[in-house]
Amino acid sequence: MSDAPNALPQAGEPGTVAVTVDRPRREPTWVAPDQTGPMPRLRVKGLSHTYVDRVGRGVDAVRDISFDVIDKPGSGEVIVFLGPSGCGKSTILKAVAGLIAPTKGEVFLDGTPIEEPARDRGMVFQAYTSFGWLTVRENVEYGLKLHGVGGAERTKLSQKYLEEVGLADFAERYPKDLSGGMKQRVAIARTLINKPRVVLMDEPFGALDPQTRWGMQSLLLDVSRHEDNTTLFVTHDVSEAVYLADSVYVLSARPASILHRVDVPFFRSRDAGLKSTREFREVEEQLLDLLYSG
Ligand SMILES: Nc1ncnc2c1ncn2[C@@H]1O[C@H](COP(=O)(O)OP(=O)(O)OP(=O)(O)O)[C@@H](O)[C@H]1O
Ligand SMILES: [Mg+2]
Repeated sequence: MSDAPNALPQAGEPGTVAVTVDRPRREPTWVAPDQTGPMPRLRVKGLSHTYVDRVGRGVDAVRDISFDVIDKPGSGEVIVFLGPSGCGKSTILKAVAGLIAPTKGEVFLDGTPIEEPARDRGMVFQAYTSFGWLTVRENVEYGLKLHGVGGAERTKLSQKYLEEVGLADFAERYPKDLSGGMKQRVAIARTLINKPRVVLMDEPFGALDPQTRWGMQSLLLDVSRHEDNTTLFVTHDVSEAVYLADSVYVLSARPASILHRVDVPFFRSRDAGLKSTREFREVEEQLLDLLYSG
């Protein structure tokens, strides 16, 4: 209550000092590519999305986003989206997943317009989405079973992925017995086991402790290299972006538009020491600067 004897002064009242972080605003540097040429692996062309609620009010979530992901032969590519909370990052992934139809624009995978979810795209959602009535192993095997993969092969593959995400000991338990981070690892294994051409990951490591997160990041890079897939990855974490990305798109506040693209230099080794190297820090600083001056 404002008349309480020990109420703290509020900003703007006598006795307070306004603290502002003075950062120069930067003009966007991203220029939409020429998209008249041959289709790349993934093409997002003039994507806009407006959510309309029951009473007809619209929220513009994404505005005129265009980018291409050109397949690097023999190796996967990781594209990271970095942007403020609520700007429209999940909306971009959902449009690529085929879960929402663009209000304007189109998304193409290998030249075919995306109209609905399909097996060639796998999404790890921001919220935990395991099936509560299936065990951890059954959750991980779900997609394989749906597509008729036999029991022995399913068990072999699920064992491999469960080990990779550190959940082999929990294979026969149910999601309710797991922590949030463990549930998220079930979702990661359940997506990767299907080997989708496009992996969509919406802040998948947010609930993990730093060490587990590090392990999951390495797993993702390994999978990406071996599967020759395309990963679109959303994060708030600048260091995670630099570690994982081939390219980072820095997004504006809502409605999301692309402000900048930063191509991350190739780091020869991505071991534990990398994050403290000068080269790594420089990219981190560049991204922080772009993120907070947009
Ligand atoms: N189903 C929906 N109906 C109406 N508005 C929505 C819906 N989903 C998202 N929005 C709105 O669209 C905007 C963008 O949402 P989105 O979830 O894409 O943001 P985000 O960048 O992923 O946010 P966060 O970083 O918090 O996950 C938000 O303002 C949100 O309120
Ligand atoms: Mg989101």
